[in-house]
Amino acid sequence: MADLEGMKVAKDYHVDVPFANDKGFYVKGANALDWGMKKRLAHIFNPKSGNTVMFAFDHGYFMGSTAGLERLDLILPKLVPHVDVLMGTRGAIRSCVDPGLASNKAIALRATSGSSMLQDDLSHEVLAVDAKDAVRMNADCLAIQTFIGAEGQLSSLDNLSKAINLGQQYSIPIMGVVAVGKEMERTPRFFKLATRILAELGANVIKTYYCDDFEEIVAACPVPIVVAGGKKLPEKEALLLAYNAIRGGARGVDMGRNIFQSQNPVEMSLAINKIVHEGYTDQDAYDFFRSEIGKR
Ligand code: R5P
Repeated sequence: MADLEGMKVAKDYHVDVPFANDKGFYVKGANALDWGMKKRLAHIFNPKSGNTVMFAFDHGYFMGSTAGLERLDLILPKLVPHVDVLMGTRGAIRSCVDPGLASNKAIALRATSGSSMLQDDLSHEVLAVDAKDAVRMNADCLAIQTFIGAEGQLSSLDNLSKAINLGQQYSIPIMGVVAVGKEMERTPRFFKLATRILAELGANVIKTYYCDDFEEIVAACPVPIVVAGGKKLPEKEALLLAYNAIRGGARGVDMGRNIFQSQNPVEMSLAINKIVHEGYTDQDAYDFFRSEIGKR
């Protein structure tokens, strides 16, 4: 480990210079990966836009029944057709997602567990899904929660590393999910640190939050970043978040509550698609959202 004394502050991010190792395969940082790994990444990231709309409905893994997700069997069939990736637990996906309806959808399988809302500290988790079951689920990536700077950092990075080792054996990409616990920082410095640590450990995709200096975070991260939705916002603000994320270099969004807690979740997912895949501005997407509601 480098001696921290005299360490210079990193600042030369060259945000205007495109990622250099991009010849051969369109997903950032994936040139040297195995064919099967690339195939799964191509299922996640649309080959035309290079981007993805992930729908997160894994909240029950630590929150139990969540507002908007009380009946997975009712909400999922409505939304599955309008997103690219289903991010959920194996229990929710096996019990409530029709494989036929999801035939052309990628699966981001939530593979860690161990916390619940009853605890103050959510940062202690285990790797809960083995690679063989991930293969049986046809998972396109495993989502591993990581708690940088929290009490459970060591175990969560152990989970991540074990998942990456399994992922390499079975050609399943790993999505490192940057957690922000109750007391954890939400600063550009923190997100820059966390995203880079996860990528250096071998995660193929990083889910993190949008923040100031986001372009620098993207530039310093050698694999694609998808931006988390977070708490429910008014639709216009959620679309602005998606727009800012894509404009800042994210290759997609992974939204849960901002879709399923909307009064109009289908129209919201369609509007997010417009930003992520078709270059709409937040205002254009909001106008589209309103006009889709008007058609009902
Ligand atoms: C966050 O990283 C967890 O995986 C959540 O359970 C979920 O994905 C969060 O989604 P949202 O914050 O958009 O509701």
